[in-house]
This record gives sequence, structure tokens and C-alpha cells, in this order.
Amino acid sequence: MRIASCPLLDNPLYEIRHLEESDANAWFEYVSDPDAMKLTSADVEDVEQLRKRIRRANSDEPGTLIHYAIGTRQDGRLIGTVGFHTITQADRSAEITYDLSPGFWGRGIATAACTAAVDWAFSHLDWLCIRAAVFERNLASIKVLERCGFAFEGIFRKYRMINGRYSDFRMYSRFR
Ligand SMILES: CC(C)(COP(=O)(O)OP(=O)(O)OC[C@H]1O[C@@H](n2cnc3c(N)ncnc32)[C@H](O)[C@@H]1OP(=O)(O)O)[C@@H](O)C(=O)NCCC(=O)NCCS
Repeated sequence: MRIASCPLLDNPLYEIRHLEESDANAWFEYVSDPDAMKLTSADVEDVEQLRKRIRRANSDEPGTLIHYAIGTRQDGRLIGTVGFHTITQADRSAEITYDLSPGFWGRGIATAACTAAVDWAFSHLDWLCIRAAVFERNLASIKVLERCGFAFEGIFRKYRMINGRYSDFRMYSRFR
């Protein structure tokens, strides 16, 4: 579901912008790297899967997916993404997702992107709650969520598959 506005990223070098189909290769480059994604349940088989996801994110149909690129301000190159899936209008809730190319880890970009996306969602959409599910060993992502004001709700055991094993996830939520 494409919405005209984008979350505002408080960073001089990077911005949050709409995803374009031409971003698919740069995105695939790191989400297909098993080492980069080893603490996530991401399971992207080919670049076409990402193109389809971008088309869904850009469709005018109200749907269940909102997804943005994090790109350099200088040349627009995609270095990450942030968005929402499992959007449930009846419950006014959604789940946040984000990923970054490993070369850009550890600079506070995910914390800034998560903060911007949550602030944007609560001011543009009538959601009550944004949730996050994070593999219990993904300490960087746990830190991002806690710094973005998400509260720990508990553990869902064997919630999603990581590297072929059903794994325990920490559940977080933030209310408007
Ligand atoms: C999780 C991810 C988005 C974090 O991005 P990032 O831009 O590096 O995050 P930030 O820099 O905003 O914050 C990460 C914090 O975790 C810390 N951290 C990183 N690895 C850590 C580890 N193994 N143990 C403890 N803390 C860790 C960093 O030092 C940083 O804290 P600091 O700012 O106090 O130094 C990135 O690692 C990523 O894309 N991973 C793959 C996809 C993924 O896991 N997505 C989330 C799924 S729930």
C-alpha cells in the first residue's frame, strides 16, 4: 500500500524514500547473504520475490504491507529498508520490520529509521499498536527496539524458523 508521504529520517547522509523496482538488486545483495541474515527468519529465494514485494508496497490497493527504502541522500543507493507487515485494520495493529546492508551496521541508522517509521505511522495512520518479533539472540535488533520505546511483552516459543530450526522470539510492542 503506497502512501504519499515518507517517514522523516533524522540523518544528514541517509533518507527514507519509496521503494522502486530498481532497488531490488541492491536489496537482494544483502538479504541473500546468509551471514548477514542469520539472526532473522528472512527467507528470500530470488530477486523476483523482492520485486513482487516492492510492487505490493507500491500498489494503490489498501493492503497488508507498507515498505520503504533507506537510501543515501547523495546518490539514492538503497542501503536498507524499513516497513510494516501483518497490518490488521480491525485490530489497528501492525508489525515493524527493518534491515540494513552490513557495511552500514553500528552507526545508529536502524534506531533512527525505526524511530522515524513509528512516529510517522502513529501520526498518519490510526494504529493503536505496533508490534515487533525478534529472535532472542538478535541483540542488535533488541537494542534498536528498546531504544525506540518498545516494551518487552514476553517470549513466543518456537515462533518462527531460523536456519531450519523453530526458534524462540521476544515479542515487543509500542502503543500510540
Ligand atoms: C538489526 C540491525 C537492523 C541493526 O542495525 P544498526 O543500524 O546496526 O543498529 P543501530 O546502530 O541503530 O543499533 C544497534 C545497537 O546494537 C549494538 N549491537 C550490535 N551487535 C550487538 C551484539 N551482538 N550484542 C549487543 N549489542 C550489539 C550496537 O553496538 C548498537 O548499539 P550502540 O549504538 O549502543 O553501539 C542490523 O544489524 C541488521 O540489518 N541485521 C539484519 C536484519 C535484522 O536482524 N533485522 C531485524 C529483524 S528483527
